[in-house]
Amino acid sequence: MVHHGDRIVADSKRPLVLYESGFAPRWYVPRDDVDESALTAVKLQTFCPYKGLCSYYSIGDARQAAWSYPDAYPEVRRISNLVSFEPDIVTAMAPSSVLSLVSRWFRTAPIATSTSPSWTALRAARWLPVPSSRLSGTWFYFRVLREGMVGAGDEIVKVGGANERMTVAEINALLYSPDHARDRLQRALRIEGLSPGWRASFEALLQSQTTAGGSGNAGLVPAAAAHPVAPGFQPLAVVAIDRSADVLSVSMRHPHGKPLPQAQPGQYVVLRLRRTGGSPPLLRSYSLSGPLSTDRYRISVKIEPNGAAGTYLRENLHTGDVLDVSSPRGSFVLQSGERPVVLLSAGIGATPVLAMLHALAAARSVRPVLWLHAARDGQHHPFAAEVRSLMPALTHSRLFVCYSRPTSRDRMGEDFDATGRLSRAVFGEIGIPREADVYLCGPNRFMADMKAACAAFVAPERIHLEIFNGGESLTPGVIGATARAPHPPRDDADTGPLVSFARSGIAAHWNASAHQSILELAEACDVPVRWSCRTGVCHNCESGLVSGAVAYEPEPLDKPADGNLLICCSRPVRDIVIDL
Ligand SMILES: Cc1cc2nc3c(=O)[nH]c(=O)nc-3n(C[C@H](O)[C@H](O)[C@H](O)COP(=O)(O)OP(=O)(O)OC[C@H]3O[C@@H](n4cnc5c(N)ncnc54)[C@H](O)[C@@H]3O)c2cc1C
Ligand code: FES
Repeated sequence: MVHHGDRIVADSKRPLVLYESGFAPRWYVPRDDVDESALTAVKLQTFCPYKGLCSYYSIGDARQAAWSYPDAYPEVRRISNLVSFEPDIVTAMAPSSVLSLVSRWFRTAPIATSTSPSWTALRAARWLPVPSSRLSGTWFYFRVLREGMVGAGDEIVKVGGANERMTVAEINALLYSPDHARDRLQRALRIEGLSPGWRASFEALLQSQTTAGGSGNAGLVPAAAAHPVAPGFQPLAVVAIDRSADVLSVSMRHPHGKPLPQAQPGQYVVLRLRRTGGSPPLLRSYSLSGPLSTDRYRISVKIEPNGAAGTYLRENLHTGDVLDVSSPRGSFVLQSGERPVVLLSAGIGATPVLAMLHALAAARSVRPVLWLHAARDGQHHPFAAEVRSLMPALTHSRLFVCYSRPTSRDRMGEDFDATGRLSRAVFGEIGIPREADVYLCGPNRFMADMKAACAAFVAPERIHLEIFNGGESLTPGVIGATARAPHPPRDDADTGPLVSFARSGIAAHWNASAHQSILELAEACDVPVRWSCRTGVCHNCESGLVSGAVAYEPEPLDKPADGNLLICCSRPVRDIVIDL
């Protein structure tokens, strides 16, 4: 601990610098173990907010590395407002000999190791060409009070302290190791200087203990995997099929009337379609579009031209058939509370928000509810009558529908309210309540436009998105990569467990000699993935396991929640389906 008035020298070898509220410990390779001549710091470092710390370095053969992006890297978000103490770390961390290993590990941001938690770096030690016993020195961050230059050898003087304090090692272990003692969580939360990211993690851990909230590490699980459910499919019988121009609505029940798992409004199920002729099963996700029910589920499938699953269902599905259906899953769910609700969709993206509308209507909600929908014309406007029939059950509801190309049969004021597209200007006229939760689903372009338009009215964290093809990715340090549509790997073998990425509609056989982890296979298929440490520590890669089982190597520090997996350190032990 550093005490008031302590004077510490920022030694270039051991940067022991501490401000109590900075909890981002780092391990580094001692300078003696590296070849400094392989490194050149291009710019002097300053004490500046972390986002300003994206300096470029020439390392070895003029390799460029940008380090940290507050928006791309949760660990950096945790420490935003804090600064790092660069020159020592850079010169210590990235000799060219280490670089090749580390760069493989972190791909295009080799020195991003220094922004990972200390546990991660400790694990990384197994790849570093130095004995782990020689990895020493905990590295800390400063909160920036006043910006300025600092260099090796400068004196750092402590001028104040916090009332509640914990050591960096304690706080780190509290989050990343399996022991999340309640009293220590409460103590950590009393530390005023705790950054928002760490605070949110500890609050989530505390909350999960209060609600006996299941397995896994609630402080780390990403939102996309926050609602784990038991893996597996159950056979459900088709009891009704409704066909419109290009949408097939299918209702299903348990063949013997057993109650179905309860869904939350907005969730989806994964269907496994076993086709004849030896082709592998098709796995597709479909939002539940009907009222909440443990008696029956309804899905509504848009029949895309050349769409494999849609066409298969349209041509082969009959009442009485049995389909393999997963438990309802997903984090795009209606939040409880009093806040106004905006349900914003286009085309078939109406399905999850329609389930939310059903739930609000069934509860006779008094929350203000605004239904906004964009369609081409009345022919391509599914659920129009159903939505109108639900509105009277709501005390404060409003409906606004835009047709981009209405036909002569479409009646303004009855079928639709405006010609054109939904936009920020339209939202301004309608009046989107600033305190609303917005639920948004539709084609990618529509989602991007609407997200930007809504941001003028509503805080970004209250705009919730459901992406129908793939998901949002998190690839810290990878810059300038072009997003490619998911595809099977170039060299797919015919043997080995089949790994299916359900959201992306891609399946590939596991080849242990080509890939170290399921994450690497997903990357080979350009399936959108989230990762950070790639060693089973940070849980950013935690994803839903729809079916199957995996083995871990290395074992994660803290296990994922039951029903989830960590893709960065796991391999399939039989056919698996992953919610990615
Ligand atoms: C969480 C979630 C919820 C979802 N909810 C719904 C829902 O409620 N309703 C719904 O309909 N969908 C929903 N989807 C999307 C759904 O899972 C499928 O991705 C979608 O229906 C397309 O599947 P498909 O097999 O019919 O088409 P795919 O065969 O997967 O084809 C995808 C697209 O490529 C095009 N394509 C295929 N082959 C060719 C070709 N040879 N040339 C040119 N184009 C081609 C198709 O036209 C189609 O547009 C959801 C997805 C997710 C992840
Ligand atoms: S990427 Fe950190 S646990 Fe998988």
